[in-house]
Amino acid sequence: MDFKSIIRDIPDFPQQGIIFRDITPLLAHPQGLTKIIQGFQTKFAELNISAIDTVVGTESRGFILGAPLAMALGCSFVPVRKPKKLPSAVFRAEYELEYGTDALEIHQDAIATGERVIIIDDVIATGGTAAATAKLVEQSGAELVGYGFLIELDFLNGRQALPEVPIVSLINY
Ligand code: PRP
Ligand code: MG
Repeated sequence: MDFKSIIRDIPDFPQQGIIFRDITPLLAHPQGLTKIIQGFQTKFAELNISAIDTVVGTESRGFILGAPLAMALGCSFVPVRKPKKLPSAVFRAEYELEYGTDALEIHQDAIATGERVIIIDDVIATGGTAAATAKLVEQSGAELVGYGFLIELDFLNGRQALPEVPIVSLINY
């Protein structure tokens, strides 16, 4: 499936000069999610990344892709959420935005020490979101073994913000 021809480019969203890569037409395609999940599985297998215990998905678009991947792998799914959404004790990681900071949280008991974890999100842009998610996995005492992104925006070089772990991206701009 040619993902790029199905993803819709929206110029000047959310602000002037940005091209927003809208994945909703791909999600709406009857085979879209299946092909995305198969793409992740193939690429992780090529890198010999196996025996994954937990898929961590980052709110909110990481939930859409992370949960079906966890199903396909037969492993756990753990959400990393925006602040004040999780009801029990959390670890918290802050990250920089263009103006100010934001934060992400994970339940402290969501991942057991030593579990093999992959982080899934729809897009890596600056890498701030993925780096904060990685900090939460680290605080959990788990072993981060890979990242998966549907889209990588190469020109922002977000991967330089991440720990030295294999990165799978299905499409690049
Ligand atoms: C978007 C996207 C990634 C993140 C990538 O999420 O879904 O999570 O930005 O940007 P970065 O690499 O520069 O951190 P957003 O925060 O817009 O929220 P959403 O997933 O809830 O739509
Ligand atoms: Mg997001």
